Amino acid sequence: MGDSVVNALDGVDLHVAAGEFVAITGASGSGKSTLMHLLGGLDRPTSGTLEFDGQLLSAMNEKQLAELRNRRIGFVFQTFNLINRTSALDNVCVPLMYTRRSFSKKTARAALERVGLGKRAKHTPSEMSGGECQRVAIARAIVNEPALLLADEPTGNLDSKTSEQILQIVHELHATGITILLVTHEMDVAVQADRIIQMKDGRIVEDTAVDDHRRDEILRLNRDSHERMFRKKAAARTGTSTDNHSSEAKRVG
Ligand SMILES: Nc1ncnc2c1ncn2[C@@H]1O[C@H](COP(=O)(O)OP(=O)(O)OP(=O)(O)O)[C@@H](O)[C@H]1O
Ligand SMILES: [Mg+2]
Repeated sequence: MGDSVVNALDGVDLHVAAGEFVAITGASGSGKSTLMHLLGGLDRPTSGTLEFDGQLLSAMNEKQLAELRNRRIGFVFQTFNLINRTSALDNVCVPLMYTRRSFSKKTARAALERVGLGKRAKHTPSEMSGGECQRVAIARAIVNEPALLLADEPTGNLDSKTSEQILQIVHELHATGITILLVTHEMDVAVQADRIIQMKDGRIVEDTAVDDHRRDEILRLNRDSHERMFRKKAAARTGTSTDNHSSEAKRVG
């Protein structure tokens, strides 16, 4: 608006190795989605460079970029982004239509089977639960066997049990060698990755490898932070004061 310029990302230097499972966290507006869009070739940076598998994205034209996205990168979004009146099977066929002159629906059916929805192929998204829709979206993301899966808050609209099912699928995909980048607000989701990147105001402020010890520590800090927030809210309601040291616990490191 007006003259104001928002640097959605600023000075980000990030290398993700093939086969990693990375979680990206940070407050709303910190630049997580912007980073995902750039990494997936959906947006181009105003400055700086992006490389995928040794290829410079800025050197690609729109057609080459679209082809890279379609063949090598799978996207999953919080709101599924499925075609509502089209069957699950046909939704999963969409990326195949772009990459192959002819294709067999068997490929799409196999992708649906990988996410446990082989029997729901004919159903449309409006006949499915949120978790099932997200599984269709994952099947669509992996139908071309991408090297990289970018998931932006894939469990953001789901209850905790359904979220676990989706994360289980993400783990299974990771185990087959797919590189995973997953954006999440929730620390108990983030700790399932091998590395957590925390963003703030368009910058990476933490980049932490996660082992079992670190995972326990992060979860404990997160729990303490929630408890403090809960107490603070309760105190605000009753008019009593409480401590004000929750910011430290919200940080990953
Ligand atoms: N199309 C746009 N035009 C202008 N500014 C934008 C645009 N998209 C995002 N921004 C700004 O860039 C910054 C980063 O936004 P981004 O959507 O990447 O944040 P986020 O971390 O994904 O937030 P959320 O958790 O709410 O999804 C914010 O300040 C936002 O307002
Ligand atoms: Mg976002």
